[in-house]
Amino acid sequence: MNNKIDRLITLIRETDKIVIFTGAGVSTESGIPDFRSPGGVWSRFDPADFTIERYLKSPEARDKQWQFLLANPELRLAQPNPAHIGIAKLEAMGKVLGVITQNIDGLHQKAGSTPRMVHELHGTLERIICLNCSAKFITNEVLAQHGACQHLPACDACGGMLKPDVVLFGEALPPLPLKTATQLSFAAELLLVVGSSLVVYPAASIPFHAKRNGAKVAIINLGETAFDDGADVVINDYASKVMTTIGESLEGC
Ligand code: OAD
Repeated sequence: MNNKIDRLITLIRETDKIVIFTGAGVSTESGIPDFRSPGGVWSRFDPADFTIERYLKSPEARDKQWQFLLANPELRLAQPNPAHIGIAKLEAMGKVLGVITQNIDGLHQKAGSTPRMVHELHGTLERIICLNCSAKFITNEVLAQHGACQHLPACDACGGMLKPDVVLFGEALPPLPLKTATQLSFAAELLLVVGSSLVVYPAASIPFHAKRNGAKVAIINLGETAFDDGADVVINDYASKVMTTIGESLEGC
């Protein structure tokens, strides 16, 4: 394992064009479960309840999502762990072109990554949008105002249907983050994947783009990923532990 970490540290030292690509595994040590590990979100919730079609058609599905927000404050109150902080430190060292994330928890920004450098492919739980007038609201403010209600409230501005600003199944990814992520995957000399099974597209195409364009690809992930065979380094260990080791090694030079 140490040889692999040493190899990754060498790759990091060699370039200032690192793009980080993260998934739910970077946030499990902040107390937020991932999706596909045992006990993960999809072992407790039915993904069929998280489609845009059902959300638009069914008041029950909308209420379920509202109650999910109410019942899981850890999603909004979680604090960054050493993996997020290690990623922010790499940026502070001038080594990072951008952070592409599938996560909706805002923890990269809370850890100190510059907000404009973080590209959220699946949206964010920190905002609620109106599907009618496109007004945007801060989730915590909506919850503070309407949290006693079991039903999803209507838009304060126009009475339209609200929705957490996250990508549901069947929805297109937000165009700007997707475009920027694709550009970054072409600009990267090292793509560092942290905590993703790399099975959900189009996000999972990012390592393929990077590799095809000549970048090295390194993966830090507890379990297998769909890109292990194509990667230059695969480290199967805890993200916080590996990122801490990397940070200490780089600070020591
Ligand atoms: P997954 O749950 O598919 O994968 C998370 C990966 O992180 C797993 O392979 C774990 O082994 C690994 N992992 C967990 N804890 C870790 C830790 N402390 N250190 C290192 N690795 C760890 O989550 P994603 O790949 O993010 O999309 O899933 C992608 C998308 O699938 C999500 O954004 C979500 C979901 O459906 C939508 O909801 C649109």
